[in-house]
Amino acid sequence: MRKIFPAEELARDSRFSRISNEERFQDPRGQRGIGGRTDEKGRRGQARLTPDLPEAPDAARSLMHGIFVGEIQALEGAGRTCWDFETATRSGDAAIEAVPFELKLDMARQCWDEARHCEISVKLSEWMGTEIGEFTENPFLYQAACNPDPVLRLTGVNRALEGLAIDVFNTMRDFGDVAGDPVLEFCEDWMLADEVTHVKMGSDWLRRLTESDPERRTRALEFQRIVDKLFSFGGARGDEEDSPLRLARRFRELAGFTETEVDEIAALSREARDEMLAQQS
Ligand SMILES: [Fe+2]
Ligand SMILES: [Fe+2]
Repeated sequence: MRKIFPAEELARDSRFSRISNEERFQDPRGQRGIGGRTDEKGRRGQARLTPDLPEAPDAARSLMHGIFVGEIQALEGAGRTCWDFETATRSGDAAIEAVPFELKLDMARQCWDEARHCEISVKLSEWMGTEIGEFTENPFLYQAACNPDPVLRLTGVNRALEGLAIDVFNTMRDFGDVAGDPVLEFCEDWMLADEVTHVKMGSDWLRRLTESDPERRTRALEFQRIVDKLFSFGGARGDEEDSPLRLARRFRELAGFTETEVDEIAALSREARDEMLAQQS
């Protein structure tokens, strides 16, 4: 079986409709964020996702469909990481093409979790009135999981994108609570617990595998910063009072992020938000 399987060839049936990253990021609806408000200069800003916003149901459905396709890709990515690399024969083997057996075990456990999340997401989508393929799929998460260096896979996917999943699940769990939807709240809470474990795997392996290779750690953290900024959605994911997707500080701490690292993500999000507002004015 071949190593490094291309994103274009992932199996999807006719219900799914795929768009490229360029199309995804050029869509002005995505840049305006969720629950927009227009300021005195006519720039559309962001607001916390609350049930009283007229666009809240569609924003919630779109967000959860995005998470659903992310779950499929996370399953595919973690599965590939079990397969794409040789197993290191001695502990401390730092060769990029080999990974410790325990890392593969973690990825296998993650596959099991993501498969469960796919099933939960299908049922939750149905509950929310969404059909599979009603919103588009963009393959970025899987592409980040094709990086030839497993450490970059774990920082790009587990720390950056699944870190984002923590923020989304935490926000949506609160939304489910306020909206009086126990099904939504319960689903989010269960998936949140697993994502904390997946992000922690990323944090732990990053530190272990780059212990004696500071350059590799720098490269991995740089990759994570790029993904974090891109997926702050023009600052919609941030640390501000009105951020539609609030940085879940406590859960990130449990997932192995230091306070300084979370502060850095908050700063990247502010930067992305300022850039988005500047583009509009
Ligand atoms: Fe997941
Ligand atoms: Fe995950």
